[in-house]
Amino acid sequence: MLQREHSYEENFMREFNQSCGIRTLAVHAGEEPDTATGASAPNIVMSTTFIAAPDASFSVEGLDEETPFIYTRWGNPTVAQLERKLAALEGTESCIAFASGMAAISALFFYSLGAGEHLVMSDVAYAAAAEMTHELLPRLGIRVTKVNMADLDELRAAITPDTRLIYTETPCNPLLRLTDITAVAEIAHAAGAKLAVDSTFATPLATRPISLGADYVIHSLTKYLGGHGDAIGGALLGPADELALMRKKVAIRTGGILSPFNAWLIMRGMATLPLRMRAHAEGADQVARYLESHPLVTRVIYPGLPSHPQHELAKRQMRNFSGMLTFQVADGPAAAKVLAGRLKVIHYAVSLGHHRSLVFYLPTGDLLTTSFHLTPAQEASYRDYAGDGIFRLSVGIEDPEDLCADLEQGLAALS
Ligand SMILES: Cc1ncc(COP(=O)(O)O)c(C=O)c1O
Repeated sequence: MLQREHSYEENFMREFNQSCGIRTLAVHAGEEPDTATGASAPNIVMSTTFIAAPDASFSVEGLDEETPFIYTRWGNPTVAQLERKLAALEGTESCIAFASGMAAISALFFYSLGAGEHLVMSDVAYAAAAEMTHELLPRLGIRVTKVNMADLDELRAAITPDTRLIYTETPCNPLLRLTDITAVAEIAHAAGAKLAVDSTFATPLATRPISLGADYVIHSLTKYLGGHGDAIGGALLGPADELALMRKKVAIRTGGILSPFNAWLIMRGMATLPLRMRAHAEGADQVARYLESHPLVTRVIYPGLPSHPQHELAKRQMRNFSGMLTFQVADGPAAAKVLAGRLKVIHYAVSLGHHRSLVFYLPTGDLLTTSFHLTPAQEASYRDYAGDGIFRLSVGIEDPEDLCADLEQGLAALS
């Protein structure tokens, strides 16, 4: 029977975690040489089951830190290495890896909210998360109020004695509007509620929400953390005692756990996260400035540009401005047809945070109908950032000059 091998990692964390840099953590944290073979790179342990002690419990109720690996839905050596690496990068005590970002968000909602309780949710968030609040959560008796998290008075007014969770994304998908995490955490805690921050767009290289007062962090690992567009995954990070309960009560029972193969792919991607994020941010800065100077581009939103409405907050809260930007042209739907056919380096596709650049057109009218059911004031704020529609561009790690040239030849066909 194999015990969980924590000693190498515990020693590493104790000795180095406080003193070593993010690049060293990205490479080493969470990993351990294989004790049987000495292999330096992590193994992929695909076994779904593990040789058990004769008195091992068949119910997850008895699970604790000392329980050996029993069944991969409960815990797996490869997934555990990824979880420890993620916790180290975010500066959190603990992490649960999930099959997708949406599985992590669902687990957080199921754990935090019950019938009669209240969720305050960012009015603009990743579409599937936003859409959960229209039917699924109300059907369970959970009340939801959507607020523009950039408006702290709107947030304060939305909170009720039943509010248990405040949920926001920063920068948010697709607008790139920011939430002031410190200010929102203060409001949440004064009301006895928890704050969860989806930090997928920022990554731990730009922002560590826990250090700013958030209680939980969400990542779609499918994006920058995996970084190569070949593995879907998600993560929820936070305090060890609560996450141990969430794992037992929700993650293991609802079952949306990460496969060891995807954990291995994502962990390999994460080793180069600091290097990639530097390239993403440098590239996005160059492409954003190029687009802002283009005569056919009417608006560019990038947190790193002085023209971003919350540039000062971005400078305070983000150590780099990541790789996401949006731009607008006069006739977006027509331009989408042209760009989808003409771009050679940039792929016209959904998703983001991959090493390849990706662009996709998001028409405002459609999104307001399908995903974001907003008040007139919230809709006005949405349109203030997005006009009638935006191209969401995830700037990859290619040479920025090549991306600008690709956009140049694509946009030339519009004139
Ligand atoms: C900000 C954000 N959060 C969560 C998700 C959901 O992640 P996944 O597709 O891994 O379920 C996405 C997906 O695009 C996202 O952009």
